[in-house]
Amino acid sequence: MSANIIEVKNLEYKYGDFKAVDGVSFFVREGEIFSFLGPNGAGKSTVINILTTLLPVQKGTAFVAGYDLAREPQEVRKSIGIVFQDETLDRDLTVWESLELHGRIYSMPKDERRQRIDEIIKLVELEDKRDVRTRNLSGGMKRRLEIGRGLMTRPKVLFLDEPTIGLDTQTRRRMWDYIKMVNESGTTIFLTTHYMDEADLVSNWIDIVDHGKIIASGNPTDLKDALGRDMIYLQTSDDEATKNMLQGFKAVMDVKATTQGLVVTINTDGTHCLPLIMNRLKEKGIEIVSVNLKKPTLDDVFVHHTGRDIRNAGAEKLHRIQPRGGK
Ligand SMILES: Nc1ncnc2c1ncn2[C@@H]1O[C@H](COP(=O)(O)OP(=O)(O)O)[C@@H](O)[C@H]1O
Ligand SMILES: [Mg+2]
Repeated sequence: MSANIIEVKNLEYKYGDFKAVDGVSFFVREGEIFSFLGPNGAGKSTVINILTTLLPVQKGTAFVAGYDLAREPQEVRKSIGIVFQDETLDRDLTVWESLELHGRIYSMPKDERRQRIDEIIKLVELEDKRDVRTRNLSGGMKRRLEIGRGLMTRPKVLFLDEPTIGLDTQTRRRMWDYIKMVNESGTTIFLTTHYMDEADLVSNWIDIVDHGKIIASGNPTDLKDALGRDMIYLQTSDDEATKNMLQGFKAVMDVKATTQGLVVTINTDGTHCLPLIMNRLKEKGIEIVSVNLKKPTLDDVFVHHTGRDIRNAGAEKLHRIQPRGGK
């Protein structure tokens, strides 16, 4: 078993009276890609800002690379790289100059700095953009340069806050490949995201956060498997009656009423179970408005634990949340 490169216990953070981080505990193993997944406002950036020493530890303890954040922030800073949620490049500098400046800020000796710049530019595939000003780079290239800059000092941990926000689908996929590549070269990755596909495809371990609390934790496969084998999304002429009827089915593990109809979790193959359910609904004179069968996703995991959809969770004030069904 590898060592823990990040250890956080009972971390809390308040902005004035507002508790943005509410007693969070977790650890990150050396060498893994760890994701903090949660909707906007969950407290992800606040946690990353504490772990990278930009915000103070108000309550609780946090260790990064073996150093106590409260007592040895300088040592922590030397062990990490950061890519912020918002772009922080100087638009007038070229790709090479951006890296050179960063190396100087961190007092890297000239020879080491120059050699590292060449390696980094190759790693993030910006060789032909070396002398181009960052203002003229595409969104994906800027992000790659920022990742490269974060790697200049050979950090033990690279922190990435929403690394693919605002990028198109194709560029996001390539970015995931870069993140994995950087990880394979020996850097532990801590990333935050509100994209469930990103967390699912990139990480070895996910902590799902909501309202400043960790609500679920595991590797992507286990998180999904714990829900059940298949999910049925069902809208009918009478969801209440359907829900009662479904609870009598042996294969049905859970039924939840959401804003998008019923979400039914079953522990058998849906292609066998679904026709039986449809027959029973017909017998009862309940009409089916829509029906969908799929494998559980991390979004379903979020719905399961919070009763709402991660994509709508940030805008929850706009509509009333339906009461939780089942359990
Ligand atoms: N500087 C600040 N002052 C007051 N409230 C803040 C500040 N920064 C963030 N918050 C609030 O704290 C909560 C968590 O924010 P944040 O950590 O940015 O979440 P996330 O990164 O998951 O979207 C949100 O409700 C946000 O509005
Ligand atoms: Mg954020």
